[in-house]
Amino acid sequence: MDAEITITELTLDLTPAVVRLCEQAFDLPEDAAEAGPVVDALWLRAAADRPVVGLGAYRGEGLVGVLLCSVSSADPTLGHVDLVAVLPQQRRRGVGRALLERAERVLAEHGVTEVLLAGNPPYYAWPGIDVRYTPAVCAASALGYQQDRTAWNMTADLSSDGSPALRSTEAAERRLAEQGIAVRRAEPADLPALAAFARSTFGGAWEGELAESVGREGAGCHLAERAGELLGFAAYGSSRPSWFGPMGTAPAAEGSGIGGVLLRRCLRDQRAAGLDRAQIGWVGPVSFYSGSAGARIERVFFLYRRTLSTR
Ligand SMILES: CC(C)(COP(=O)(O)OP(=O)(O)OC[C@H]1O[C@@H](n2cnc3c(N)ncnc32)[C@H](O)[C@@H]1OP(=O)(O)O)[C@@H](O)C(=O)NCCC(=O)NCCS
Repeated sequence: MDAEITITELTLDLTPAVVRLCEQAFDLPEDAAEAGPVVDALWLRAAADRPVVGLGAYRGEGLVGVLLCSVSSADPTLGHVDLVAVLPQQRRRGVGRALLERAERVLAEHGVTEVLLAGNPPYYAWPGIDVRYTPAVCAASALGYQQDRTAWNMTADLSSDGSPALRSTEAAERRLAEQGIAVRRAEPADLPALAAFARSTFGGAWEGELAESVGREGAGCHLAERAGELLGFAAYGSSRPSWFGPMGTAPAAEGSGIGGVLLRRCLRDQRAAGLDRAQIGWVGPVSFYSGSAGARIERVFFLYRRTLSTR
């Protein structure tokens, strides 16, 4: 007979085991390939920003499933399930259910009243459940979660020199220079000004992602400025190497071509780092990314929520 499932809180020394499990349990090869950076961002680095709990499901001695959950730093009544994965040969035996039910209890103890199956910015790997993880979509509704939003990532093709994502920025940068606008790579010394610009211009919580991008290996950021005044930025690589974003252009400078230049500078770096495509995460302006880099909508996510105390 099967050993019982036990759920325990995981300690950080188990990170390698959690990564190994995710490598086997993420059905999409692109996610399996980035399991290490994803776990690092969602578990280790996110803990600087918000309460994060890792749960492990054991059958006997063996780790068969993991779940990472966290409290929203913007609204402490909201909890997020950031990642859940069960080994393929262990599915449909109640492991996912047991992990999710324990996560709800742990989050409730932190004061959470509503749980989202959705990314918890600034540290998230997916906006919600990729629709191709169909068992997860089925499990979410079986466990009483309501789908409330849809989100999508776009993919920029970096596989060949002819890709529109890798189009030269030279002519556009010359035109910007004629207007006194300089474009350059951001340095760690730029971080305070970048964070202040992002906060005052766009609100939101991009400081963490910027800090995780500027000057870090496998990540980076480019900016545009005129006479020392920031006009825009674009960053990549914060929570996973293939990730592009966030980016923003000051409203007064919109339409000048700054955004396209910053975007393609980042994509060029990502290609130079050996990537054959980049994910533009949780996209708003589809036409901008389509027009500036030939990006296409590829990953589509359902976002779910459930009010606690109704089980
Ligand atoms: C999603 C996942 C965690 C579910 O884990 P699990 O241990 O198989 O889930 P459970 O056995 O507890 O299933 C709970 C309920 O969900 C539903 N469900 C789960 N998988 C299903 C499937 N393949 N088809 C239909 N319903 C399914 C069922 O209603 C099930 O209850 P039942 O078996 O009593 O009918 C697992 O499939 C997985 O690891 N998938 C890959 C990673 C992933 O998708 N992560 C989330 C995406 S970001």
